[in-house]
Amino acid sequence: MSERITSVDQVKKIAVIGAGIMGTGIAQVCATYGYEVTLRDISEEILNRAMETIKSGPFGLMTGVEKGKIKKEDAEAALARIKPTTDLREAAKDADVVIEAVPEILDLKKQVFKELDEICPPRTIFTSNTSSLMITDMAGVTKRADRFMGMHWMNPAPVMQCVELIRGLETSDETYKVIYDLTVKLGKTPVTCMDSPGFVTTRLIAMFMSDAIECLERGLMSADDIDIACRLSFGHPMGPITLADFVGLDTVLHIMDYLYSVMEDPKFRAPLLLRKMVQAGRLGVKTGRGFYEYEAPGKPKRKK
Ligand SMILES: NC(=O)c1ccc[n+]([C@@H]2O[C@H](COP(=O)([O-])OP(=O)(O)OC[C@H]3O[C@@H](n4cnc5c(N)ncnc54)[C@H](O)[C@@H]3O)[C@@H](O)[C@H]2O)c1
Repeated sequence: MSERITSVDQVKKIAVIGAGIMGTGIAQVCATYGYEVTLRDISEEILNRAMETIKSGPFGLMTGVEKGKIKKEDAEAALARIKPTTDLREAAKDADVVIEAVPEILDLKKQVFKELDEICPPRTIFTSNTSSLMITDMAGVTKRADRFMGMHWMNPAPVMQCVELIRGLETSDETYKVIYDLTVKLGKTPVTCMDSPGFVTTRLIAMFMSDAIECLERGLMSADDIDIACRLSFGHPMGPITLADFVGLDTVLHIMDYLYSVMEDPKFRAPLLLRKMVQAGRLGVKTGRGFYEYEAPGKPKRKK
């Protein structure tokens, strides 16, 4: 086996670490495009739920068969290529590429990458699906900062076309090229960003949601009208207040606080209303109540 991965053609096996919203979608896309995938999470229960989502979720493989988007035999073959496991060593020991998708907690991600650095051979390329944390910071806990970069997928991963690639300070041209080519092979369109908190996509969308919440806080417009204005004036598929409820208000606050703490620019200061909503446990769709009320926690349908 070659000491280094210098071409995307050497990539056969991908380890996805974290089987939540993003990890499940990413694993599904990789398997659909013919890669052997291991999917690691911390419990069998989470993995069973993840496999069910990959199979029959709204963007799942069998749902795709019903909608005529993928042939049944291709969907079955893709499903068979995904091996769920709770064992990190088993998942990563012979992976060519790791895609990390554990929660957005810097210390947790650093711990996971330290463990992976011990488990994986030197050839393995590490990527993080972080939406805001600096790549150079995480790469610094490994002995392979040159083989480390950001691969920021969008939600839902099987549907959204763009993947933002982030080069850490030490990311080699070779690693960047392999991950760029891999992104294209996975049917996505890459955009490239240098390392910075929130990169470009999260920085823009977090600021947009935060500014919209501030407009609401100042009483300039109702939540519904802000959403309608953005959908009908800008052609956005979803208004920023609804989007914040979908992303999770705790996550939006976490991102804003991180951007502010690292950049020290007042434009990243989170509106007080956002902080109050989180303090009150109104986190959005996941708790059934955010700026809007939903039929049940986790159900995106709004109450009449
Ligand atoms: N949700 C989004 O819209 C979105 C979009 C782009 C990027 N991201 C980023 O993707 C990452 C994951 O986000 P998510 O929304 O999928 O979170 P999530 O909470 O849905 O999933 C995270 C999963 O990681 C698991 N986990 C925790 N510790 C682990 C460990 N040590 N090893 C393996 N698995 C572990 C959890 O059990 C959970 O299932 C975050 O960095 C987030 O910022 C999220």
